[in-house]
Amino acid sequence: MTTGAPQEAFLQAFHAEYPAVTAEAFGRGRAPDGRSSYEILCDQLAGSTRVLDLGCGDGLLLELLARRAGRQLAGVDLSSHSLALARCRPKLSEAKLEEGRAQELPFADDSFDACASHMALMLMSEIEQVAAEVARVLSPGGVLACAVGGGAVGGEGYERFLTLLRRTIEETPASRRIPALGDKRTRSREGLDEVLGRAGFAAVGWETVPIDLSGPVEQVWATVSSLYDLGPLDRATVERLRVAFFAEVRDMTTSDGHVPCAFKICLATTRLRRAGPR
Ligand SMILES: C[S@@+](CC[C@H](N)C(=O)[O-])C[C@H]1O[C@@H](n2cnc3c(N)ncnc32)[C@H](O)[C@@H]1O
Repeated sequence: MTTGAPQEAFLQAFHAEYPAVTAEAFGRGRAPDGRSSYEILCDQLAGSTRVLDLGCGDGLLLELLARRAGRQLAGVDLSSHSLALARCRPKLSEAKLEEGRAQELPFADDSFDACASHMALMLMSEIEQVAAEVARVLSPGGVLACAVGGGAVGGEGYERFLTLLRRTIEETPASRRIPALGDKRTRSREGLDEVLGRAGFAAVGWETVPIDLSGPVEQVWATVSSLYDLGPLDRATVERLRVAFFAEVRDMTTSDGHVPCAFKICLATTRLRRAGPR
């Protein structure tokens, strides 16, 4: 069985350098209805009081959840650096923020009415173990709502960036490539049904939402270049990629200097039918 150790060591090292990278890059993204992907996930949990954020990072989602008074919030993450930022958020002074693995949650059985996860589930290895742990800490009937990455929308800057990145990675020595992260099944409804169904969850609801990240080219570059894949690349390679990206999006830049950029999130929601395996 894989333990996820090299992947988790990579994630910890990456977030030691970039502890708030996801919230900084994607927090400003907007769906067609004007909400961010964090707000969309937050709204899925409107009726829940005891909420766990799995892979909470620097705590942006938890902060949104804390706007409703009386909530008991908890977050778990591998990264002590990201958690340190979450602990600085005044609204999270009462939240239980724990350094740990989703595969071994540091919480008692039946602790939560809901579990949320924003852009984190798809990075986790031993996903059956994660599903079993989430089932264990949720009460029966508890909600699980996850946002996972769904790739580029197409015909915009992110798609072009991914094409350039793929070429760059092909030419990059294996020592400068990131380890394979997560389990592919988390990126499809069928895959999640398979994993979560075994842990006692009902059929997954699945919605794909485009998130607009358009803006000035420097800002779009800051967003797309925040991907994990760039972490191990040397400076010269990243600079070449940047120059190529600026050239690649020139023809799609609007007269006011904006580059269209968007990605999709897949929003997966389900409920725990019965108590998880003990
Ligand atoms: C892309 S970041 C998203 C952070 C935050 N949810 C957000 O959207 O701003 C993924 C987060 O998941 C955490 N993570 C990945 N695998 C994990 C695991 N097995 N257990 C706990 N946290 C994990 C990483 O440390 C990282 O903070």
